[in-house]
Amino acid sequence: MNLLKKSLTALTICAAAAGATLVQAAPVELKFAHVVAENTPKGQMAIKFRDLVAERLAGKVEVKVFPNSQLFGDNKVLEAMLLGDVQMAAPSLSKFQKYTKSLQLFDLPFLFKDMAAVERFQSGPTGQEMLGSLKKKGLIGLGYLHNGMKQLSANDPLRTPADASGKKFRIMTSDVLQAQFEAVKGVPLKKPFSEVFTLLQTKAIDGQENTWSNIYSKKFFEVQPYITESNHGVLDYLVVTSTEFWMGLDEDVRSELSKALNEAIAHGNAIAAQKAEDDKQAIADSGRSEILMLTDAERQQWVDAMKPVWAQFASEVGQKNIDAAVASNK
Ligand code: LMR
Repeated sequence: MNLLKKSLTALTICAAAAGATLVQAAPVELKFAHVVAENTPKGQMAIKFRDLVAERLAGKVEVKVFPNSQLFGDNKVLEAMLLGDVQMAAPSLSKFQKYTKSLQLFDLPFLFKDMAAVERFQSGPTGQEMLGSLKKKGLIGLGYLHNGMKQLSANDPLRTPADASGKKFRIMTSDVLQAQFEAVKGVPLKKPFSEVFTLLQTKAIDGQENTWSNIYSKKFFEVQPYITESNHGVLDYLVVTSTEFWMGLDEDVRSELSKALNEAIAHGNAIAAQKAEDDKQAIADSGRSEILMLTDAERQQWVDAMKPVWAQFASEVGQKNIDAAVASNK
């Protein structure tokens, strides 16, 4: 090869290499932040989503999961999402009241009789319509994810509403949950999930409400001697992203992400159902906390005390939505 030919070949190789780096853009980074442990329905769902995306969109999108409030607590994550600092999260439905009133429906006490009713409602027309309730705020609800029914834990046994009187309960940032505890003369305090264990351990608060998997994975049962199986409300999630991020993606990428997310949610939901049983059993086996079962008459007292909260919030959440939720119990 003469010198000219050699340098021409070298030039071609360089140009090809430069071209290749130009077309091969860095993958889109998708940060998924949440507040719970990894061994929970939400933790497992996020991992499944990350893995499916790695398999199907390698080089195009990379999902990074931040559990345990490592990146943002639930009270900050939506603001951060609108600023582009995080792209996906799944806060509980109780944490959206600054953005929409309609999702407060899910906090109404004794609204759904079990998780099957919650599922029927969420997959039905009213539940699906509510996914779009954040649109005006620049957020998109991509799907619901289950955790489960909430139980009441405390330093003292809670059998009737009178037992809750004067006690301090940590609640999520929800006015409905505030009204729920005020209805039994409790003292509700809105606090981030990341602070609950310490608040309980130091006895700064007397009790809290949560699902079996959260009580187990965050060790609340180790610092709460009594858990009443009240099933008085639901703790589910809305998987959200920002409109700006989501609509900025190529259509084929968006559609692959949607598919992966739906599969990850189905995976998380199956784990939620199993964990509600397993984690309750693990708590019972630990001997650290006594699980109290209510008689029908005791449970009815909680229903009678808390249900007036529905009327208090009917105009905000919509009577038609309440009716649709009640109908899902059949
Ligand atoms: C809570 O704050 O108690 C829950 O929303 C935590 C969670 O995300 O399950």
